[in-house]
Amino acid sequence: MMLIQFKVNGKSYSIDVCPTMRLLDLLRDELGLTGTKEGCAEGECGACTVIIDGEAVNSCLVLASQVRGKEIITVEGLGEDGKLDILQQKFLEHSAVECGFCTPGMLMSAKALLMKNPHPTEEEIRLAIAGNLCRCSGYSQIVAAVKDAAK
Ligand code: FES
Repeated sequence: MMLIQFKVNGKSYSIDVCPTMRLLDLLRDELGLTGTKEGCAEGECGACTVIIDGEAVNSCLVLASQVRGKEIITVEGLGEDGKLDILQQKFLEHSAVECGFCTPGMLMSAKALLMKNPHPTEEEIRLAIAGNLCRCSGYSQIVAAVKDAAK
């Protein structure tokens, strides 16, 4: 076991982790943050996307021990004071949620984009979510929602 300190959604944690534990398991099983989903478990689907120090990352490919000293944002960290984040609001308005399994990962990839580039082009939006698969193929609504959130 190894002791690591890190922040998730602004809260500090100090936890003993197994060296082989994935960040995805740390978030879901140890911290109870089950908004982050496991799809493929091999970096292909993006369902497990979280933001680490401003970058969208597949949490199934990151070891918990690698987040020592880092700041993580999960889908539970979006929005403030009980209000939805603008991206969540626009996903609802554009019916960009079908089965919902890809939604947390989509939101986090889009959020990482808007944190760096508040007014992206459609091409930049499509590139930012290129690693997030939507099995309902609702890409048009998702892109429209992100574009609207970035207005
Ligand atoms: Fe991590 Fe699919 S579960 S990319």
